Amino acid sequence: MPPDSSARVLIIGATSAIATETARTYAAYGARLFLTGRNGGRLEAVAADLRVRGARTVDTAVLDVTDHRRCQEVVEVAWAALGGLDVALVAHGVLPDQARCQASVADTVAALELNFSSVVALLTPLANRFEAARHGCIAVITSVAGDRGRQSNYVYGAAKGGLDRFLQGLRNRLHPAGVAVVTLKPGFVDTPMTAGVAKSPLFASSRRVGRAIHRAIEARRNVVYIPWFWRPIMFLITSMPEAVFKRLRL
Ligand SMILES: NC(=O)c1ccc[n+]([C@@H]2O[C@H](COP(=O)([O-])OP(=O)(O)OC[C@H]3O[C@@H](n4cnc5c(N)ncnc54)[C@H](OP(=O)(O)O)[C@@H]3O)[C@@H](O)[C@H]2O)c1
Repeated sequence: MPPDSSARVLIIGATSAIATETARTYAAYGARLFLTGRNGGRLEAVAADLRVRGARTVDTAVLDVTDHRRCQEVVEVAWAALGGLDVALVAHGVLPDQARCQASVADTVAALELNFSSVVALLTPLANRFEAARHGCIAVITSVAGDRGRQSNYVYGAAKGGLDRFLQGLRNRLHPAGVAVVTLKPGFVDTPMTAGVAKSPLFASSRRVGRAIHRAIEARRNVVYIPWFWRPIMFLITSMPEAVFKRLRL
């Protein structure tokens, strides 16, 4: 029997194209799923698809992650519904318009809030629950964009980079309790989030990335670049001296 056949899995932002693919892999193994999304109709459509694909049970809760109190409440509801959790995957995010952010404090703060603060609002109760249970895995989708600030998307990059550092500390804190923290760093993925971005051979499908996320979680990896080739690419990009990097139009 596969190791995750009876896994209890919470997925935040389950209507995301990438998260849906990861959920499908868990469903095929007969996992028990608890899904959240802000659009109830789309969430129920995803849940119905996962039931057909073999999930043992699928529960749902509508959650707009900008409501921090509700974030904490939903973590407790999911924990109670499944009698504890083995895996929590946090997947929601938005790609803000960098030019609009530069012109608007409100847009910049909203992007940071959605991509960073709301994730922290979920990770805080999740970490406490998992630490007390001395078991499980917390996985979060950050981005290669968080590895180095670039003029074309540094607001998004700052949020994902901050998240990367937060997860580093959380991993260090939770390791003695036997809880894994997996930092997932996709490169370009063909999803609704990148609908307006010109496609290149560096783009991966949501199916490839979603499956790689499942493998990374099951292997309890620490930091994973998806696909793998982003690790050497980001090594080169982060190795470049600031005196050179600041002159590039990236
Ligand atoms: N696509 C890429 O190239 C790429 C690269 C690196 C990392 N990532 C990261 O991968 C993750 C998944 O993104 P994706 O590519 O799968 O894009 P996606 O399909 O557009 O999914 C984004 C998800 O975030 C949800 N969301 C946005 N605001 C929310 C809110 N206030 N409350 C609750 N949910 C909210 C969306 O819900 P609705 O459906 O209701 O809008 C949607 O389910 C994100 O963290 C993203 O930053 C993506």
